[in-house]
Amino acid sequence: MKPVSGFSKLAKRKKLQWVVENLFQNPDQVAREMMSFWHTDEKQQELFDDFSENTLSNFFLPFGVAPNFVINGKSYVVPMVIEESSVVAAASAGAKFWSDRGGFKAEILGMKKVGQVHFEWFGRTNSLKAAFALLKKELYDKTQHLTEGMRKRGGGIVDIELIDFTAQEKGLYQLRATFETGDAMGANFVNTVLEEFGRILQEFCFGYPDFNDEERDVTIIMCILSNFTPECLVRVTAECPVEALGSFDGGVDSETFAHKFSKAVRIAHLDPYRATTHNKGIYNGIDAVVLATGNDFRAIEACGHAYAARSGSYSSLTHCEVKHGIFRFWIDLPLAVGTVGGLTALHPLAKRSLEMLGSPSAPELMMIIAATGLAQNFSAVRALTTSGIQKGHMKMHLTNILKTYQATDTEMEAARLFFKEKTISFTSVREYLQTQRGVKITV
Ligand code: MEV
Repeated sequence: MKPVSGFSKLAKRKKLQWVVENLFQNPDQVAREMMSFWHTDEKQQELFDDFSENTLSNFFLPFGVAPNFVINGKSYVVPMVIEESSVVAAASAGAKFWSDRGGFKAEILGMKKVGQVHFEWFGRTNSLKAAFALLKKELYDKTQHLTEGMRKRGGGIVDIELIDFTAQEKGLYQLRATFETGDAMGANFVNTVLEEFGRILQEFCFGYPDFNDEERDVTIIMCILSNFTPECLVRVTAECPVEALGSFDGGVDSETFAHKFSKAVRIAHLDPYRATTHNKGIYNGIDAVVLATGNDFRAIEACGHAYAARSGSYSSLTHCEVKHGIFRFWIDLPLAVGTVGGLTALHPLAKRSLEMLGSPSAPELMMIIAATGLAQNFSAVRALTTSGIQKGHMKMHLTNILKTYQATDTEMEAARLFFKEKTISFTSVREYLQTQRGVKITV
């Protein structure tokens, strides 16, 4: 296929036409199918089209809810957008389990975000360090007009440091600034201030009387926020006496459960192979709420995984201890989210999600998201250490497999009964349906 030029300038219908004609055997059918997912309200569709570029259609994902979350004594029904079956069920089950045992306790450990101006400067390091106090003052003073609104909302620049990278790379430094951004995620605010910092730094070096000719020149490499926010941190804890845990599938008593569960978390601390899957389960819950509330799940994931590796070895984000008869399970999670601005204000369902949560502040949303991750992890590890994960998983998976083979409602009901105690796989379900239908299934 020849490269296409001017594609982004085409009208949406023309883009769709180009794609279906060039990439599909049955262009009319595909075009109709893609268009069937367009919003019936043109204004709403325009809104979605404008979120991104080269939009052809909308990609639906289920929007569900996990009820029964109790966090610091307050009840929530948590909105979740996710395609994986059993995630919402697991979050709901985890929430219900802990709501019967006092709910989750949540606290904010910090709200600081970080931004960096990376620059090259080939002068005397000591001179730069000596000049930094004055430079820092200028950075604050000359960005007052940009930070005014944020300061009024309780945020702004918290600190600015000069970081010397010259031991690793000749001439390399950075301004590392810390910000608080209130209820906004703050990316735009931080990046705007950082770019201004870059200009101020250049002006400063050019005019600073103690610098020699070479030192007047500074190359700004880039100005950008860091998605690593270890000081924008929330802790959520679930705890109860061991005997209050009750008994579990397969006749597992509370003592045995507490031992096996805490050992499973310990394994995720020791072994990056297990830690990755363990944390993936946590992000099943987290991403779903982050998406539902119109936040940036890539930023949240990148940060969480960097945090999980902060000791130098990738490890579990959750912790568990059993001490003096108390079972304690908690998560420390860096989360830079917003409840104002960005998609939170634009996406109609993100707005509804926030409304459903009682229009939380950013710190409150951090608590809700982390509690969902903890509930999710609790359910996953509970299943893994008692009945095994496949029992619950496969029940949901069976429905998806049956749908793939276009099973009728009657076939679904019969298949669910048939597979109650049997192993579910694509092959076993296909063979079962073939026998029932008396014909070979070819899809
Ligand atoms: C599946 O999406 C997530 C789990 O693998 C998480 C875990 O193993 O803890 C069940």
